[in-house]
Amino acid sequence: MPDRLSFQTTLIHNDYVAPEGFAAFPQAIHHASTVLFDNVAALRARNWQQKDNYTYGLHGTPTTFTLEARLAAIEDGKHCRLAPSGLAAIALVDFAFLKSGDEVLIPDNVYNPSRDLADWLSADFGIGVRYYDPLIGAGIADMIQANTKLIWTEAPGSVSMEVPDLPAICRAAHAKNVLVALDNTWSAGIALRAFDLGVDIVMQALTKYQSGGSDVLMGAVITRDDDLHRRIELAHMRLGFGIGADDAYLVLRSLPTMKLRFEAHDAAAREVAHWLKARPEISAVLHPALPDCPGHEIWQRDFTGAGGLFSVLFDPRYTEAQTDRFVDGLKLFKIGFSWGGAHSLCVPYRIQKMRSSWNHQGQLVRFNIGLEDPKDLITDIEQAFTLL
Ligand SMILES: Cc1ncc(COP(=O)(O)O)c(C=O)c1O
Repeated sequence: MPDRLSFQTTLIHNDYVAPEGFAAFPQAIHHASTVLFDNVAALRARNWQQKDNYTYGLHGTPTTFTLEARLAAIEDGKHCRLAPSGLAAIALVDFAFLKSGDEVLIPDNVYNPSRDLADWLSADFGIGVRYYDPLIGAGIADMIQANTKLIWTEAPGSVSMEVPDLPAICRAAHAKNVLVALDNTWSAGIALRAFDLGVDIVMQALTKYQSGGSDVLMGAVITRDDDLHRRIELAHMRLGFGIGADDAYLVLRSLPTMKLRFEAHDAAAREVAHWLKARPEISAVLHPALPDCPGHEIWQRDFTGAGGLFSVLFDPRYTEAQTDRFVDGLKLFKIGFSWGGAHSLCVPYRIQKMRSSWNHQGQLVRFNIGLEDPKDLITDIEQAFTLL
């Protein structure tokens, strides 16, 4: 056997120990709210933070602990905690590392519910929030104040797709003892080595590629650092962010195929994106692997793949009513949020209303390229173009 297995092989071969006399591949699903102790002494000696010391279903079962270990391994991290959604995982990071009087810096292209959460933290919890240009790079140093405690990054932004310079942001942050958290949902931990680039905390919405079924909501927060993990664990315990074992099992079941699905999404999305680039209806294809996308050269430097999510800007001659007609006219692409599942999706965004700094012309429409034959998806887009 080779000394070091490839990533795809480790997604399938892991250290699961089956119950005596029942060897099989799947991880068992362990349900529990109450966990029983042998005696009072064992109850008094409990330690909910130790992975082999089960105390209460909320803190984890063998099923959720197994999923946490596999997700940490995928990111090349050490610790992981699950949360009931990607948004809950973002909130977990905010509650773990911010208190009244602190400040958090957030990219202006951030996933919109994360922005809404930050604005709530600012309005009701006394936490300072400032937004920065996602392409700011090393310039973030000028924004860091004495009370700045956390910098969020998203690579790339999940609607307007700018790719940030993570190493430059991390260097500037660490020079001033500020933590950097990354929403790494877009590349699922497959196409970006976040910790190697300097990121301290990785958050993922497992709702996307890790689930792959458009049916599970879940998030994860992953670290390499014991002290950071301890703070995440405490916030997790205090917030009561438990995960159902059935949902954890669904994600465990999908993980062995995740890389293959991701690569299929990636290949199909690039085929559709290149086709769109040559169309007169489209003025820009905001796909990180294409030169139209701000930060394309950073993507080339830091990423090894792209997945299925990208956006386009329509030629400014088309009104919102026309591009809405285009989206309504698609047959294979369905209209709906989220991504990472087998079905292709399409969403028009009123991005001018989401970001005051947005200065591009043309309607923005986002595609999630699923696992259908890209030729059929192109034919679908082509027929919907005639409705413009
Ligand atoms: C980039 C990004 N982060 C986080 C989330 C939140 O995930 P969830 O839907 O599981 O709350 C999403 C969901 O669309 C997302 O696109």
